[in-house]
Amino acid sequence: MVQVVLPNDANPLGYILGGTVMHLIDIVGAIACFRHARQRVVTAAVDGLQFLHPIKVGDLIILSAQVTATFRTSMEVEVRVSSEETLTGRRRLTSHAYLTFVAIDADGRRVEVPDLVLESDQERARADQAGARREARLAAKQTLADIEVDRRD
Ligand SMILES: CC(C)(COP(=O)(O)OP(=O)(O)OC[C@H]1O[C@@H](n2cnc3c(N)ncnc32)[C@H](O)[C@@H]1OP(=O)(O)O)[C@@H](O)C(=O)NCCC(=O)NCCS
Repeated sequence: MVQVVLPNDANPLGYILGGTVMHLIDIVGAIACFRHARQRVVTAAVDGLQFLHPIKVGDLIILSAQVTATFRTSMEVEVRVSSEETLTGRRRLTSHAYLTFVAIDADGRRVEVPDLVLESDQERARADQAGARREARLAAKQTLADIEVDRRD
């Protein structure tokens, strides 16, 4: 996805809002998962997100997404965000994130997703690493659920 950063997307300094970048990351991640699964998807988790450089009004924001691993009903997708100066063509990586989407049917029930076809050693290694990240996410989710239970007690 490529967009030009317009004044409406920016803060008073003339840089794109972090929330706008997060919105676009969510959208491109969802598109990649949707195209893989051909099912409705919802965002289950977004891993730590960094903003390395600002993107200014008039620059291009370029987002690319790739499904890295599939599980039963969930998928991990990697999103990379870059800026491109329109006059020089200079590109910089500005953000990177892993998101998890869960496939659901029209009634909100989880549905299985097709296996990802892993063709290269690099893709296989990435999918293995995704398994470890998934464990960490589910542990973090459990910690949050436990805090919620403690607060109710
Ligand atoms: C995401 C959601 C559907 C998961 O529901 P749940 O009852 O916790 O689901 P389950 O425990 O049955 O897990 C379903 C799958 O999601 C995965 N999952 C759930 N929460 C996760 C998390 N925080 N991180 C990573 N994976 C997660 C599970 O591992 C499981 O994967 P698998 O089937 O591939 O093994 C539910 O929490 C939800 O609806 N959340 C709100 C989503 C939302 O509104 N997003 C923003 C707008 S789209």
